[in-house]
Amino acid sequence: MDILILGGGGREHALAWAIRQDPRCGRLWCAPGNAGIAAVATCTPLDIEDGAAVAGFAVANHVGFVVIGPEAPLAAGVSDALRAAGILTFGPSRAAAALEASKGFTKAICAASGAPTAAWARFTELGAAAAHIRATGAPIVVKADGLAAGKGVVVAETEAEALGALAAMFGAGHGAVVIEEKLSGEEVSLFALTDGEAVVLLPSAQDHKRAFDGDTGPNTGGMGAYSPAPALTDALATRALDEIIRPTLAEMARRGTPYQGVLYAGLMLTETGPKLIEYNARFGDPEAQVILPRLGAQTLDALLACAEGRLGDLRLTPSPEPALTVVLAARGYPGTYARGEPIGGLAAAAACPGVTIFHAGTRARGSAMVSHGGRVLSVTATAPSLAEARTRAYAAIDRIDWPGGFCRQDIGWRALPPR
Ligand code: AMP
Ligand code: GLY
Repeated sequence: MDILILGGGGREHALAWAIRQDPRCGRLWCAPGNAGIAAVATCTPLDIEDGAAVAGFAVANHVGFVVIGPEAPLAAGVSDALRAAGILTFGPSRAAAALEASKGFTKAICAASGAPTAAWARFTELGAAAAHIRATGAPIVVKADGLAAGKGVVVAETEAEALGALAAMFGAGHGAVVIEEKLSGEEVSLFALTDGEAVVLLPSAQDHKRAFDGDTGPNTGGMGAYSPAPALTDALATRALDEIIRPTLAEMARRGTPYQGVLYAGLMLTETGPKLIEYNARFGDPEAQVILPRLGAQTLDALLACAEGRLGDLRLTPSPEPALTVVLAARGYPGTYARGEPIGGLAAAAACPGVTIFHAGTRARGSAMVSHGGRVLSVTATAPSLAEARTRAYAAIDRIDWPGGFCRQDIGWRALPPR
C-alpha cells in the first residue's frame, strides 16, 4: 500500500518512521516533509491545506492511504476532499475537527455531553468580556477563539493582566474570546484512537510547554515529553475515557459528525477528577515522538483500523519500555531565531543505544544538515526505565554539535528525581 503523510515536523517524522516498520507499507510520501523524513519517505512540495491539490496528488500517485499530521489541513477540510475522492484517510472531517479549531464549539459539546471542563463564557464584544472579568475576578483564563498555535491563551493571575490580554486579543483582530475558570492540578495528555464508535486509548504522555527549565519562560509547541505519564494512573485514564472522551464521541456521532482519527485531550487532574482543558484533533508534537516509538510496527494497522472502521477488533500492545524525548530548538525560539546553521554529530548521536532522532525543522545543504525552524530536532530514547531513557537522550544530545541550539535540561522532572 502506498501512503502519503501530510506535515513536516517531528510528529510526522515519528509517523513516517513507525509506518515504515510495517511490511505492508509500499511507497511512502511525505508533504512537505523535512531532511530527516527524507531518509524514510519521498518528500514532495504540496500545499497541504489545499484539499483538491492533495486529492489530485493522491489519485495521480495511486496513494491508498493518507495520514494527516497537523491541524491546519484538518481545519481546512482536506480529509473531506480526500474521502470525496475515495481515498482512505486518517483524520477527522472538518466538522469534527472543530473540536480543536473552535474552543466555543468544544465547550458546547462538553455542556451537551456532560464532560467536566472549566466553567466558561464566550464573548464577541470587548465591553461585555471586560465586565465579566471584573465580576469574576482573578485568577482567570482568557483565550482567543480559533486556532492560535498555542499563543492565544493567557492564564492571568491578576485582573489587570486579564484585561490587558483581552484588549490585545480583540486588538489583534480575534472576533471572539472564551473566558474560563482557572483549573489547578497536574496537566497530562490523553490520546484516544477512534473510528467514530470504538475507542482505544494510547499510552499516556506529558509534555513540557514552557521554553526554559523549571517550567519558566514563554509557552512553546512543546520542549520535550515522556511516556507513560505516571500522574495519569490507569484509574484516572479510565475515568477520563468514561466521563470525557466517550460522551464527547457519542455527542459528535449524535450530531451526524462522527469523529475519526486521534483525539488528544489535554486534561487537568484536579482534586475532583480529570477535567478537559482542550481537545486537539491530531497527535501532539512532541508527544507523538514518545508514543509512536512505543507502538512501533503496530502503528500503521492502528491508523488503518480507525480509517476503515474496524477499531473494535484492534488489540494494541505498546512496548512496556518508557520513552523520553528532548527537543533541540534554535536559540530565540519561540521568538525570532536564525536558520541555516549547520548541525553536526547526528550520526554519532543516533548510534547511542535506544536513541532515535526525529527531525522537526531541518534541511539538507549539500552533504550537511542545517537548521530550518524553531524546533529543530527531537531526540527520543527508550529504555527499561524512564530514568535510563532520560540518561540516554541527554547522552545523545551531548554528541550533537550545534552551538546555535538549546534544550531544556529537566525533561521528565515531574516524574523523576533531578539529574
Ligand atoms: P490551550 O491552548 O487551551 O491548551 O491552553 C494552553 C495552556 O494554557 C494549557 O496547556 C494550560 O497549561 C493552560 N490553560 C488553559 N486553560 C486553562 C484553565 N482553564 N486553567 C488552567 N490552565 C489552563
Ligand atoms: N505538544 C502540544 C501540542 O502538540 O499541541
